[in-house]
Amino acid sequence: MGSMQGKVVLVTGAAGGIGGAAALLFAAEGADHVALADRDAERLEASAEAVRAAGGSASAHAFDVTDESAVAAWVDDVAATQGRIDAAFNNAAINHPSTPFHELEREVFEEVIAVNLTSVFLCLKHELRHLVAQGTGGAIVNTSSGAGLVPAPGQPHYTAAKHGVLGLTRLVAREYLRHEIRCNAILPGMTDTPMLRGAGDELTDRVQEMVKRATPNGELLDPVDVAAAAVWLCSDAARRVNGQSIVVDGGGILH
Ligand SMILES: NC(=O)c1ccc[n+]([C@@H]2O[C@H](COP(=O)([O-])OP(=O)(O)OC[C@H]3O[C@@H](n4cnc5c(N)ncnc54)[C@H](O)[C@@H]3O)[C@@H](O)[C@H]2O)c1
Repeated sequence: MGSMQGKVVLVTGAAGGIGGAAALLFAAEGADHVALADRDAERLEASAEAVRAAGGSASAHAFDVTDESAVAAWVDDVAATQGRIDAAFNNAAINHPSTPFHELEREVFEEVIAVNLTSVFLCLKHELRHLVAQGTGGAIVNTSSGAGLVPAPGQPHYTAAKHGVLGLTRLVAREYLRHEIRCNAILPGMTDTPMLRGAGDELTDRVQEMVKRATPNGELLDPVDVAAAAVWLCSDAARRVNGQSIVVDGGGILH
């Protein structure tokens, strides 16, 4: 029996990368249904189709995670069509090229905070609304980053947002313990996803240099290895793990 047997799971940022890998893993672990969300409708549908092709049940909802009414409608729709929700992986995010702090435009700072932090607040709010009303407990995982612990040079927005995700995670873990709703965070190291490769699908010299320094064997992480931690935290095998931040980087942060 898979570790997610009988569970309905929500995943944001599911059009590819870590979220896409997680959607496949949740299904492979026996989830009843995986509800995939992303703003990239075309890649999202392909990701949902991959879950179905592997024998899973999947739905695709394309919307912007900073839009509260869209987030609320998604969670409401999944709960209505599937009868409940059990777990959620709040994972969508963006990044921007590194910029000296004193040159960073306020608009860019606010955009990254909106997508990488406010969206996590919105997803948590509406997921908790359902989980509390259901009274069935539940498990939520938020994606932070190594930048949630150690500042990423030239990334004030990303660093602030990912630190903030850890704060929200701990607050929810503490306040919803009495509802048996767990909330944890994963902190990926440098992982081979579209976010890191950028539009040209090429690793820039700067990224390649960072990979050499920040990973134990000089290689990017496989998204599946990061997703596996999120799936475990959502499963009952992690039922006593709450409010924790799990770094998944092969030990790179220790370098
Ligand atoms: N790749 C890495 O090295 C790395 C390292 C640390 C943390 N992370 C984190 O991992 C998570 C997943 O990133 P990834 O590496 O798989 O990158 P990715 O770019 O493949 O995935 C992010 C997904 O989020 C979606 N998204 C972005 N803005 C959105 C919005 N406003 N509304 C809806 N969807 C939106 C994108 O379309 C994309 O599919 C992110 O939270 C990222 O910050 C990644």
